Amino acid sequence: MNANVTPIIQPLQDELLATAQVAISVLRLDEMYPLSSGNKWYKLKYNLQQAKKEGKNTLLTFGGAYSNHIHATAAAGAQHGFKTIGVIRGERPEVLNPTLQFAEAQGMQLHFVSREEYRNKAGASFVNQLQQKFGPFYLLPEGGTNALAVRGCSEILPEKLLCDAVVCSAGTGGTIAGLLVRLEGQKKVLGFPALKGGEFLYDAINQLTTHYQNRLYTNYQLITDYHFGGYAKVNAELVNFINEFRQKHQILLDPVYTGKLFYGLFDLIKQGFFPVHTRLLAIHTGGLQGIAGFNERCKNKNLCILEG
Ligand SMILES: Cc1ncc(COP(=O)(O)O)c(C=O)c1O
Repeated sequence: MNANVTPIIQPLQDELLATAQVAISVLRLDEMYPLSSGNKWYKLKYNLQQAKKEGKNTLLTFGGAYSNHIHATAAAGAQHGFKTIGVIRGERPEVLNPTLQFAEAQGMQLHFVSREEYRNKAGASFVNQLQQKFGPFYLLPEGGTNALAVRGCSEILPEKLLCDAVVCSAGTGGTIAGLLVRLEGQKKVLGFPALKGGEFLYDAINQLTTHYQNRLYTNYQLITDYHFGGYAKVNAELVNFINEFRQKHQILLDPVYTGKLFYGLFDLIKQGFFPVHTRLLAIHTGGLQGIAGFNERCKNKNLCILEG
């Protein structure tokens, strides 16, 4: 996968930031590869190389019906000559949502499994069944997080880092593990879990860095108050924030990850969480493909993220 693209760093101009004397620059990973956008590209990079090395021409992975990872794997697989299989949680709907329509259009074979089967997806017997059905494949875990994804994410940050702390949304913790590996204990990382009860991510992140390089880092903190009730849950306040943010900064945020990150960040700044002159680098990890499906799902609730 081509690595010669450098993401833009966009400083935010904002009255709140000026008053608090806190600076935020946004690392625009969302602008890099529209189809395998944000952190996804970094997570896939070394996995695709490894799959080629192992002589595998099929990638198999797991995800929910709106998964950014499914979308990105379908696109990257098509681009790099892999057959792709997406094992999707739940029954096949009559009409596929935009994420799954896109995945199929990229050539991904969708395989729907019950929620119960999905829960046991990492078990050897389920993986064996999949191998019998589909033949040999390179297995990418749900969310794309493994040691090679950590290695890829350790390349996210630019060489020169003019900031005091890096802030990033968290799902599985793979991206934050990669940032910690790159920072080698320097500076601070603030992670904003998109899931309720995100404290479990301390263990997940520690396991990932230990497994990757036998090191534990303590220069990070999880801010667990901005999940909005749980994964993919939103309210009108969050949607309004996302729409106002786009108008003000010309940056579109997604409702699952980056919207919650920036909402939380601005809320913390209002509360005086950061000392004056703090310089933050906020990572826009993409996920914008999910907006179409979100708008479709939430139109009855009169919630709509404006994209144009
Ligand atoms: C857009 C976006 N941002 C952030 C994350 C969180 O990344 P991680 O699972 O590595 O914590 C994800 C999920 O993978 C995502 O899709």
